[in-house]
Amino acid sequence: MENVLIEKFTLSDLNLIKNTLETDFDDFWNYNILEKELQNDSSIYLCCKVNSEIVGFAGISIVLDTAELNNIVIKKDKRGNGYSSFLLDGLIKIAESRGCKNFNLEVASNNIVAINLYKKFGFKQVGMRPKYYNEVDALLYTL
Ligand SMILES: CC(C)(COP(=O)(O)OP(=O)(O)OC[C@H]1O[C@@H](n2cnc3c(N)ncnc32)[C@H](O)[C@@H]1OP(=O)(O)O)[C@@H](O)C(=O)NCCC(=O)NCCS
Repeated sequence: MENVLIEKFTLSDLNLIKNTLETDFDDFWNYNILEKELQNDSSIYLCCKVNSEIVGFAGISIVLDTAELNNIVIKKDKRGNGYSSFLLDGLIKIAESRGCKNFNLEVASNNIVAINLYKKFGFKQVGMRPKYYNEVDALLYTL
């Protein structure tokens, strides 16, 4: 049976996936950036473990009453199983419990899966930065 856990993403968790981070998760996520993020007091990171295997992680930064999604990523061969929904749900609840009134994020306009994920949680598009990622627009969403 599948045992799914959402828990704090620690430096020791990050070290467990260090060598597969860029190949199995996403080539955008760099170990050194994440290591700094996990030590940043204004950041909160969760990971998703399935039968003890780390299948994804996500994090927010909180400034005053606003949370900003830093990243959310699921291992390539584990996508489509609802794991990112568990992570985002966990982060939204933490942001609420810390008194956040806004939850903002930015997403590439061609990242349809991520946009569907955010819309499912009720995020609304509030802006756009044209050609922000090379030729691709960045869309700004808020909850
Ligand atoms: C975006 C990402 C985190 C989604 O993770 P996931 O665990 O596969 O997503 P889930 O299974 O929880 O699905 C969440 C929602 O996304 C949408 N979705 C999932 N797979 C989809 C697909 N193949 N096509 C279209 N929409 C899809 C659906 O709305 C889904 O909700 P539903 O199944 O209840 O309808 C994952 O694809 C990923 O890691 N992508 C690379 C990193 C990235 O782009 N991160 C976001 C920007 S920082």
